[in-house]
Amino acid sequence: MSYITVLLDLAKHDRSTFLCGKSLLDSYFQKQAGQDVKRNLAACFVLIDKNTDKIAGYYTLSSNSIPQYQIPESFKKKGPPSYLSIPTILLGRLAIGINYQGKGFGKLLLVDALKRCFDTSASIGAYAVVVDPLDNEAEQFYDKYGFIKLPDSGKLFLPITTIKALFN
Ligand SMILES: CC(C)(COP(=O)(O)OP(=O)(O)OC[C@H]1O[C@@H](n2cnc3c(N)ncnc32)[C@H](O)[C@@H]1OP(=O)(O)O)[C@@H](O)C(=O)NCCC(=O)NCCS
Repeated sequence: MSYITVLLDLAKHDRSTFLCGKSLLDSYFQKQAGQDVKRNLAACFVLIDKNTDKIAGYYTLSSNSIPQYQIPESFKKKGPPSYLSIPTILLGRLAIGINYQGKGFGKLLLVDALKRCFDTSASIGAYAVVVDPLDNEAEQFYDKYGFIKLPDSGKLFLPITTIKALFN
């Protein structure tokens, strides 16, 4: 396969020309992602087109938590009632470059991120992956893959148990 997902290498990867059509996601990647990586606030992964060495997409992961009260009742039954907050992994941003959109790379990158979260949850506990979509369009994308709305927050989550079922 001529695409590979690797950690962003600040010295090697050129972020300056990346465009996904959403200016907030473009400027974050071009201007802030490097700082966040240096400060250990986020891990940033890039999808590299091996034919051109260009960045086809990126996503970020950070440790995170959500208040217990936000978890929908149907899930609470299975959760620990005494925890005030629930450990999660934040899939903070995910974007595919304009020239690569509509070709299955968004799905590929999301599956890569979910697999990484699932693997990580074996060594650092995490109940779910959380996303905070930028707009309705982004929300629809995550909705398609089974993410569930967290009330009063605009965020969505996917339990690690659901992700586990995808990879077993
Ligand atoms: C949203 C985004 C990540 C999708 O990536 P993509 O490579 O274009 O999507 P794919 O080709 O992998 O499509 C996968 C599936 O999602 C669907 N899809 C793509 N974009 C969608 C959207 N905005 N809403 C709903 N479904 C969407 C596709 O129709 C496809 O469905 P199918 O498998 O049934 O055919 C990409 O368009 C993007 O980066 N957009 C700008 C940034 C953004 O909005 N990011 C969202 C996260 S913050």
